[in-house]
Amino acid sequence: MVKIGFVGCGGIAREHLKHLRGMSDVKIVGTCDTHAGRAKAFAADAGCEVYADSVALYEKAKPDAVYVAVPPFAHGAIEEGAAARGIHLFVEKPVAIDTATAARVSGAIKRAGILSSAGYCYRYCDTIDTARGLLKGRAVSLVSGAWIGGLPPTAWWRRRAQSGGQLLEQTTHLFDMVRYLCGPVQEVHAMAARGCMSRVEGFDVDDSSVVTLRLKTGAVASITSTCVTNHPTRTHLEIVTPEFTLTLTGCTVRIEEDHRVTEHRPECDMYAEESRAFIEAVRTGKKNGIRSAYADAVKTLQVTCAANESAETGMPVKL
Ligand SMILES: NC(=O)c1ccc[n+]([C@@H]2O[C@H](COP(=O)([O-])OP(=O)(O)OC[C@H]3O[C@@H](n4cnc5c(N)ncnc54)[C@H](O)[C@@H]3O)[C@@H](O)[C@H]2O)c1
Repeated sequence: MVKIGFVGCGGIAREHLKHLRGMSDVKIVGTCDTHAGRAKAFAADAGCEVYADSVALYEKAKPDAVYVAVPPFAHGAIEEGAAARGIHLFVEKPVAIDTATAARVSGAIKRAGILSSAGYCYRYCDTIDTARGLLKGRAVSLVSGAWIGGLPPTAWWRRRAQSGGQLLEQTTHLFDMVRYLCGPVQEVHAMAARGCMSRVEGFDVDDSSVVTLRLKTGAVASITSTCVTNHPTRTHLEIVTPEFTLTLTGCTVRIEEDHRVTEHRPECDMYAEESRAFIEAVRTGKKNGIRSAYADAVKTLQVTCAANESAETGMPVKL
């Protein structure tokens, strides 16, 4: 039986709980949240104990692994405490609010020799496997993506010191897909706009941004983001090669070549697959099924931090 603890009991923790509860080889042994009511309700649904904080959870419930599902600003000591006790880590994206915290945690994970997985869930979609297969060995010339959405309801999201802003917290999924499908990023240049959201109390993140990337292969990419719309979010990523154009909309992959269009719709639940891979790794000690280890997620964080830095200074940032 794999014993799992939860730090953070909000929206995404609930999603993970839904899948873990269906696994016969998993037992949820404890949880904690700085919001006592949320922890209590989560524990009632999970059938586990509530602990005062992550240290009490680790010491008393002795989980084999912990899901860290807290906002960006809260990462760091939670993961270091787990690593110091040999507790394997599933960490939601973005894995930290800055690269210094992420480097510290990365070092702790390496020293402890524990397993790690980051919540870049799109990597577990069957259609993304199809996309990777099709793109393998192809020369990508251009990538163009967008995350066009509205303001998320959580208060921490609109505060730069707590979320890191839209690029770091949300569009990070697209930056991760660029890396996963097209390879490493070499250079980042960004511009951001502010001023449309001044009516929102405590709002100090960018309203909209445009990020251009140079990939190590020589390809160029542009990623556009906004959080000012009043309609449901839509995202896409278009990858152009001389042979075909591949468009990712959510998890649906569309291939356009000559006058033919082929569409691949997902047949799996990416969150279920993501947790299945992590639990299997903890159970067997074999990490082959994990598609985004912590150290790899740090590279996506480096791209979004570079974009924030570039938007601030007006200068390109080399990685
Ligand atoms: N992979 C995905 O598709 C996906 C989807 C949604 C959210 N997320 C990520 O998950 C993280 C959490 O998002 P959410 O939507 O669940 O937010 P949320 O606000 O609903 O939940 C976060 C919870 O963490 C708790 N918390 C804050 N600091 C804490 C601490 N030090 N110790 C214990 N608990 C603490 C809060 O009280 C809250 O209950 C974010 O980084 C977000 O980007 C990922």
